[in-house]
Amino acid sequence: MPGRNTNSADNVFMISLCLGLALLIVSVTGQCGNPPDYPDVIMVTQPPLDFVEGLTITYACQIGYVRKSGSTTITCTNSQWSHLTLVCERRSCGSPGEILNGRFNTDEGVLFGDKAYAVCDEGFQLVGNGVRNCLAAGWDGDIPRCEIVKCPDPPSIVNGEITNRPQGTVTFGTSITYKCTKGILVGNRELVCTKYGNYSSAPPACKDHKGCPSVQVENGHKTAGLGPVYNYGDFIAFACNPGYILNGTDTVTCGVNETWEPELPTCQKVTPTTTTTTTITTTTEVPPTPSPGNVFNHY
Ligand SMILES: *[C@@H]1O[C@H](CO)[C@@H](O)[C@H](O)[C@H]1NC(C)=O
Ligand SMILES: *[C@@H]1O[C@H](CO)[C@@H](O)[C@H](O)[C@H]1NC(C)=O
Ligand SMILES: *[C@@H]1O[C@H](CO)[C@@H](O)[C@H](O)[C@H]1NC(C)=O
Repeated sequence: MPGRNTNSADNVFMISLCLGLALLIVSVTGQCGNPPDYPDVIMVTQPPLDFVEGLTITYACQIGYVRKSGSTTITCTNSQWSHLTLVCERRSCGSPGEILNGRFNTDEGVLFGDKAYAVCDEGFQLVGNGVRNCLAAGWDGDIPRCEIVKCPDPPSIVNGEITNRPQGTVTFGTSITYKCTKGILVGNRELVCTKYGNYSSAPPACKDHKGCPSVQVENGHKTAGLGPVYNYGDFIAFACNPGYILNGTDTVTCGVNETWEPELPTCQKVTPTTTTTTTITTTTEVPPTPSPGNVFNHY
């Protein structure tokens, strides 16, 4: 029995010795320091208290980043951490989506952290959020809509009507045409619904028009538009009689104000060029030299 006891005690001693030696060896040769910090990656493994020989630590890419290449682990070998070869890159969110009558401006890019801006075609306006962010889970928000611009109902006019009154709302690009049931139309006959949601101009007016008076030009005659009745828009062409030259425009038109536009020309007698003398009129005893009549100054 004492032999057994001794034997048992010896075994315990031997095991303790071996364990002690083993621990000593491990603590001397098999321990790594703190694993290094790497940018753009995070440590996935819950770090143990001791970084012992053979331990493997796993890394992953930061949020919004994905693995491009390399291994995600490092190992403690001969008291040294192996080099982390993991390379991460920003994730791509892909296309932010299609917009009817618009598009996304992705000049910034479609990677994590980038923004896509919705742009509507001319004559369309944005409904919804115009910006989408590329987040770790993909594009945030929803695809906005581009709605056609609307104009208010076209205005009615006195003594006139719309010849093509549209059914329902007037939208961008639609044109509205007016006509007068009485009088003459002054202004723009056609209005277009613009991208701003207003009309291209004020509506026309229907104005009473009694016509223009028949007119003559002294020392001239009509070559067209002999009359005698002249309505809005009618014209008269004039020519001067021999020996006279026309001053002004040879054609006038019956305007909205029942007058001829532009003003009537005149026919002026052709005269030989005469030299003019400057006469100084003063309150002196010397009587002023009488100047010849009908003298033109030519500059
Ligand atoms: C329509 O609206 C735009 C923008 O507000 C403005 O610049 C333009 O002058 C307007 N047009 C008319 C005919 O009022
Ligand atoms: C032509 O008529 C205008 C306006 O009536 C007048 O001012 C101008 O002197 C005339 N020109 C000539 C060369 O007579
Ligand atoms: C017509 O008369 C109106 C009001 O008097 C005036 O504002 C307009 O300038 C005139 N138009 C022409 C072409 O003479």
